[in-house]
Amino acid sequence: MENGGGTTATGAENLSIKDNRTGRGYDFEIEDGTVRAMDFREIKVDEDDFGLMTYDPGYSNTASCRSAITYIDGEKGILQHRGIPIEQLCEHSTYLEVAYLLIYGHLPSEDEYNKWVYEVTHHTYVHESIKNFMDGFRHDANPMGMLLASVGALSTFYPEAANIDDEYQRHVSAVRLIAKMPTLAAFSYRHSLGLPYVYPDNDLSYTGNFLSMLFKMAEPRYEPDPRLERALDVLFILHADHEQNCSAAAVRVVGSSRVDPFSAIAAGVAGLYGPLHGGANVAVLRMLQRIGSTDNIVDFLEGVKQGNERLMGFGHRVYKNYDPRARIIRKHVDEVLEATNKESPLLDIAVELEKRALDDDYFTSRKLYPNVDYYSGLIYEALNIPTDAFTVMFAIPRTSGWMAQWVEMLHDPELKIARPRQIYTGPRDVDYVPMSER
Ligand code: CMC
Repeated sequence: MENGGGTTATGAENLSIKDNRTGRGYDFEIEDGTVRAMDFREIKVDEDDFGLMTYDPGYSNTASCRSAITYIDGEKGILQHRGIPIEQLCEHSTYLEVAYLLIYGHLPSEDEYNKWVYEVTHHTYVHESIKNFMDGFRHDANPMGMLLASVGALSTFYPEAANIDDEYQRHVSAVRLIAKMPTLAAFSYRHSLGLPYVYPDNDLSYTGNFLSMLFKMAEPRYEPDPRLERALDVLFILHADHEQNCSAAAVRVVGSSRVDPFSAIAAGVAGLYGPLHGGANVAVLRMLQRIGSTDNIVDFLEGVKQGNERLMGFGHRVYKNYDPRARIIRKHVDEVLEATNKESPLLDIAVELEKRALDDDYFTSRKLYPNVDYYSGLIYEALNIPTDAFTVMFAIPRTSGWMAQWVEMLHDPELKIARPRQIYTGPRDVDYVPMSER
């Protein structure tokens, strides 16, 4: 609102701005530490002026929604879901309970929990045509690309899911996505190895069944190691949600068009595929393999500091401190190596590399600390997951976070289709030149 220098009509905290082009002053309400970008449109040079826009590439300083799902304090390294610290969830909860918490906003009662687990367990099968669809991929297809396509394809199997205002449809879509994601992921992994698909085993836990679908061979019954089941469950809890990151934002942007949830979640899978997001754990492992020995760390870090490449698994848009998820994962690396009877020369390199980087002013001055992906790849490697399938391991648990973000978005009274603005920098009013004259 244009002002003479006073407060806003409501008396709320406000920001006074003076447009030096016109000499006019404005007061904009400050609410929850934000001002509304649309208020700036009032600032015009004259009546024909479109009004001032804000410019924020990468949305580094733009809140795109109100959310009550996940709280992060990047400076202090705090992560909480529905207010509960991640450390407590990892210690006391299960991935499926956390999924319920994220989507429904509260910890389930015993009855709610049992019903939820039962529903997820009994929706793990996929239509046989999905298997045929999987068979259509090349033998060396990237499992994440296969997952992306098959999650999108689910929308054609459940057209009723497009009825997004129906509470039951939203619920059953959440159940289906959380239940089928491990099946699709395991099928894509088995396809890439030329192995027959293993059907879900409803007597096993969520992670036990997933391990069975990945690794069962000729034995009549796959018996998952409880230590690996639990380590994987903790990894799934850690990856369940992380507020408005690239993939969650993609789910919200695509979902704002009111498309069905399978298509919206496929957008999330696509976002996660990229090496700067979910693909970073693959990049970390490749980086460690390339470094090859602790003797090469100094040269490697020199190259990073000269800007030749990035130290993958370090740095975060939000965390300017040790990522709390990385701390918890680190504790589980040794446990998994022990359960799988493995030694990891890459772990030695990772530990030494972290130590050197945290001792180096280049990294500390930029507040670059290990993020969730720094150690997760080492666990996946110990579990015999091929590098190409690492991001798939991230996509499975993140599905609950995406669904929570999608459901919350649909309830938002301020929801609008996402439609950013641009600053046009190209030419104008150029005449078309016939091909023969070019
Ligand atoms: N190695 C070396 N330098 C880095 C790194 C890194 N990993 N990350 C940031 N920097 C430097 C960057 O060069 C810049 O330096 P300067 O100010 O001299 O130009 C400064 O730190 C700020 O970097 P930025 O690119 O402006 O930071 P951002 O917030 O845009 O990027 C990031 C965040 C995660 C994309 C970035 O830190 C990165 O590329 N990290 C490596 C990839 C990675 O591990 N990604 C996983 C993220 S966690 C998983 C998830 O939640 O999705």
